Amino acid sequence: MGETIRSVRGMRDILPAEAGAWRRVESVARDCLESYGYREIRTPIVERTELFRRQLGEHTELVEKEMYTFEDRLNGESLTLRPEATVSTMRALLEHGLLAGRRRQKVHYCGPMFRHERPQQGRHRQFHQIGAEAVGHAGPNVDVELVLALRRMWARLGIGGRVRLKVNNLGDASERAAHRRELTEHFRRNRERLDEHSRRRLETNPLRILDSKSEQTRAVAEEAPRLDAHLGGDSRAFFDGFLGGLAAAGVAHEIDHRLVRGLDYYGKTVFEWVYDGEGKELTLCGGGRYDGLAEQVGGPPIPGCGFALGTERLVSLLADPEGAPAGAGRPDVFVVAPAAHFAAGLGIAEGLRDRGMSVAMDDECGSFRSQLRQANASGAAFAVLVGDEEVAAGEVSVKPLRDESGQFRIGAAGLADRLETLRDNGA
Ligand code: HAM
Repeated sequence: MGETIRSVRGMRDILPAEAGAWRRVESVARDCLESYGYREIRTPIVERTELFRRQLGEHTELVEKEMYTFEDRLNGESLTLRPEATVSTMRALLEHGLLAGRRRQKVHYCGPMFRHERPQQGRHRQFHQIGAEAVGHAGPNVDVELVLALRRMWARLGIGGRVRLKVNNLGDASERAAHRRELTEHFRRNRERLDEHSRRRLETNPLRILDSKSEQTRAVAEEAPRLDAHLGGDSRAFFDGFLGGLAAAGVAHEIDHRLVRGLDYYGKTVFEWVYDGEGKELTLCGGGRYDGLAEQVGGPPIPGCGFALGTERLVSLLADPEGAPAGAGRPDVFVVAPAAHFAAGLGIAEGLRDRGMSVAMDDECGSFRSQLRQANASGAAFAVLVGDEEVAAGEVSVKPLRDESGQFRIGAAGLADRLETLRDNGA
């Protein structure tokens, strides 16, 4: 036997036992977002590298270290597996003229993203996001709407009490630049107290030092000048509008001045929903406003706001992540047929499937006893027996498996109707 080939590190299988929870999460999210007028968009998993490099920020962790980038062997073009979907969504909306003439779009998406991070609790290299983007909407009402859609989602999934909302105001580009200068000064003065990693970030992305997990650096970050002091009237008014909307809708939130987010395209509103993992805070969902992104992608100035949540993290928060909806995976009927009548049995199974029932069979045609045992173990409500006598008479025998009512024979033509009636009567 050859060596077993295992999955790639950081990329995991979603097995049938979990798939029910995934489907539930995705369907609740879709229903919820569509009830706010968001429509689905699906963009390719592979995009040109330059799309991400500039828009996410040359000096972000993501672009510097985490992108799965490769050369297309056929034409040498540099391609990247998407690490997130906001930028692709903007590209697609612009490319297809969906924002022309000041048109606005509200879209949602779900699918795999790829980041070459160190795998650990809640962190994978292939992970999934469910996200939404409101493009062309100047806010802040739409920023509030996105938060409300998320609050509704958490409630429907029964985790409303386990997540907290943090918000912050990142202001506009010139306010951030002024803050950045002051911040760099502060960190330079305290260079000796910073950890290795943060010292390197000092020249490239000082804002990210605020997010550092290192104890010693955190102390320096605590004393750092705040962006708050640089915010002008317009930025403040915008954020007040956002906070006012949250208050009017009764959404509890904390203002966290250290919340900066890891991608460069954000300005004004940013928010995160967090929960307590094993010993550390994990972010379930992050989002915010990106009014400059459309221009960076080569379009006209068009505002936008959105979020993405980590599906793995959301599924892990459900009370019973492995809990498929009751009955999921159980067939309605198990057709028992010996090898000689397999074709007849298959015909009956197909007829029942045409009527919307789920039907299992033993395709190895085991003994009658073995097939009956499989039927019982499958959880099916009925076994349909296709034996010599039945086939000769153009009939089948029906054996109810979940109650004590007796076995009976019926013409094959009337089988589906009869099973439906029995099922509707609670068999
Ligand atoms: P993000 O904060 O990079 O934002 O990712 C959003 C969420 O994806 C995170 O809060 C986390 O739950 C999940 N996530 C990120 N990386 C991983 C990972 N390696 N393993 C598991 N889960 C992960 C964005 O991606 C933005 N595009 C969100 C957005 C949309 N902003 C505006 N519109």
